[in-house]
Amino acid sequence: MVCLGNICRSPLAEGILKSKLHADNFYVASAGTASYHVGDNPDSRSISIAKKNHIDISTYRGRQFKKADFDYFDYIFAMDYANYKDILTLVRNDQDAAKVDLLLNVLFPGENLEVPDPYYGGTVNFEEVYQLLNKGCDALVEFLKNE
Ligand code: 4NP
Repeated sequence: MVCLGNICRSPLAEGILKSKLHADNFYVASAGTASYHVGDNPDSRSISIAKKNHIDISTYRGRQFKKADFDYFDYIFAMDYANYKDILTLVRNDQDAAKVDLLLNVLFPGENLEVPDPYYGGTVNFEEVYQLLNKGCDALVEFLKNE
């Protein structure tokens, strides 16, 4: 799960997806395309909305997406189109590129919808992001079941 800062959307997506999958079978992680928040815990507003939904992301630490991630992950989901394009600048071959998509394309195929950046927003924006991610992750779990 990849966003810009790896403190608002993607750690929340990581926590939600982990809550829906068995850790024995799936390795789920998140990253940011930017380095501003490397080593930081998630934004307190993401921690709060996760906690409200019985998910603890408070110990996660920001990290930056790197080329080696293409070797470790089968699927790489971007939160918005800018993240998607930034990830694509790092691909080494067609196989890497084929792993990348917008998360919401799993839920709404071909629509290229984005999970909006809530960083400059308020609680309502984080609530909206949580709801979108929860639905997106439900669709992803269904997709993975059929893989
Ligand atoms: P995220 O949100 O990409 O969902 O983690 C942001 C976090 C930090 C910044 C922008 C977006 N920032 O500009 O520092």
